[in-house]
Amino acid sequence: MEFQIATTDPHAVYNLLIGLVAPRPVALVTTLNEDGGVNAAPYSAYNYLSIDPPVIGLGIAERDGAGGAAWDAKAKDTGRNIRQRGEFVVNVVTEDLMDAMTVTAIAFPAEVSEINEAGLHTVASSVVSVPRIAEAHAALECVELQTIEIGRSRIVLGRVVSMWVEDRFVDPAGPYIRAQEMHAIGRMNGQGAYVRTRDAFVTKDRIKYGDWVKR
Ligand SMILES: Cc1cc2nc3c(=O)[nH]c(=O)nc-3n(C[C@H](O)[C@H](O)[C@H](O)COP(=O)(O)O)c2cc1C
Repeated sequence: MEFQIATTDPHAVYNLLIGLVAPRPVALVTTLNEDGGVNAAPYSAYNYLSIDPPVIGLGIAERDGAGGAAWDAKAKDTGRNIRQRGEFVVNVVTEDLMDAMTVTAIAFPAEVSEINEAGLHTVASSVVSVPRIAEAHAALECVELQTIEIGRSRIVLGRVVSMWVEDRFVDPAGPYIRAQEMHAIGRMNGQGAYVRTRDAFVTKDRIKYGDWVKR
């Protein structure tokens, strides 16, 4: 089948695209609300985009049913808070955080803390004023580099200023992340589908050009 975007309903485009760009890492993003409360929500339109400087990208859609509302009323809290404060934290979502992560995605009224509802706690970050999630095994502290508004979405580029990883998940030799032990999850094609990375690793060495021509 072929789907020309010009003639495909945006919801179908979403369903197809997230099924084809998968698995995706899940960022549980913490930000600070205007009143200083901590907001948390998962985002899987997420990846690292450059290393020097280290930059990650987040895709934030407008709020469901926002219709013709003013720009700020359409924005999800995460996008609005990042614009206002210029800082956020990406907490890495692992298997043990899946249930809590899905609770933070509920559209609670503004006065309800997703962190409390999910049974999570926060702890101070090292550089940014936004706390990280205490239960997460790793977190990226970010400052907003740029927010690009494209149609009904925002793409946030965040410069990573500090990375925190629980000691047991760092192999100091590289340093490398002990990803086989961290058990990050990936989001798939919607419909609540995720993948585990536990016992799922395959190793394939990079081939050097010299070795390729000698094969
Ligand atoms: C695993 C998962 C991944 C999600 N990824 C995105 C995403 O990439 N972009 C987005 O706009 N919403 C995404 N959502 C929906 C938001 O988490 C949801 O709209 C949330 O209520 C936004 O909260 P906020 O207003 O506090 O930012 C995702 C939800 C889940 C469960």
